[in-house]
Amino acid sequence: PLTVEVFPDYAAMSGRAAEIVVELLQEKPDAVLGLPTGSTPLGFYDALVASGVSLAQARTFNLDEYLGLPRTHPESYYSFMKRALYDRSDLRPENCHIPDGNAPDPHEECRRYEEAIRAAGGLDILVLGVGHNGHIGFNEPGSQWDARTRVVNLAESTRRANARFFNSLDEVPRQAITMGIGTILEARRILLLASGQEKAPAVRDMVESAPTPDVPATALQLHPNVTVLLDREAAALL
Ligand code: GLP
Repeated sequence: PLTVEVFPDYAAMSGRAAEIVVELLQEKPDAVLGLPTGSTPLGFYDALVASGVSLAQARTFNLDEYLGLPRTHPESYYSFMKRALYDRSDLRPENCHIPDGNAPDPHEECRRYEEAIRAAGGLDILVLGVGHNGHIGFNEPGSQWDARTRVVNLAESTRRANARFFNSLDEVPRQAITMGIGTILEARRILLLASGQEKAPAVRDMVESAPTPDVPATALQLHPNVTVLLDREAAALL
């Protein structure tokens, strides 16, 4: 069963996530961090920056990136990471990894990305959010559990959920590069963050359903070291 910790509010949940990562960095300054995007981890990044911890030796690998958006597009996950962390920390640019959504050969880019994670020694910790349909990274329902980093089609519901960041639904990319569930499960430790009542059903399914590819986050039940950090609203259906 997954270890679940419930916090009174979003700030407390975010602070706890940052504290766990800071403790890891104090022990291992060159730790390899797997990092998410989305609204959920913004408070985590704020708390990590506020802690003043040095990331000068850390290596980071993001979970996913849209396919076909220029890096400079404000809604690319690269731009998100620049705003949330890269520009606010002492991370070295050469240690910040994120799939290149504009690579001439996206499938080759996926292979290269997997190899880069392996060459870094694997992920010491991976921080995740969860989608309304239980997706992790961009592993939509039906994803194989041994899948590696690959090109995926986005579910219409995911495109609609992310349309709030674009001028119209039409502008939301239809594909992405994401770490696979197999890649995710190889991280040595996983933190999953969820906040708000709209995530409560996905959180309940993730924690209480038998593992099923219909709810990708249930794959985390197979991992020996996952901590689920929730605010009260996200935990409401447990
Ligand atoms: C996006 C990302 C996921 C993220 C999820 C939830 O599509 N690919 O990594 O966990 O949706 O996002 P949010 O935190 O904004 O609810």
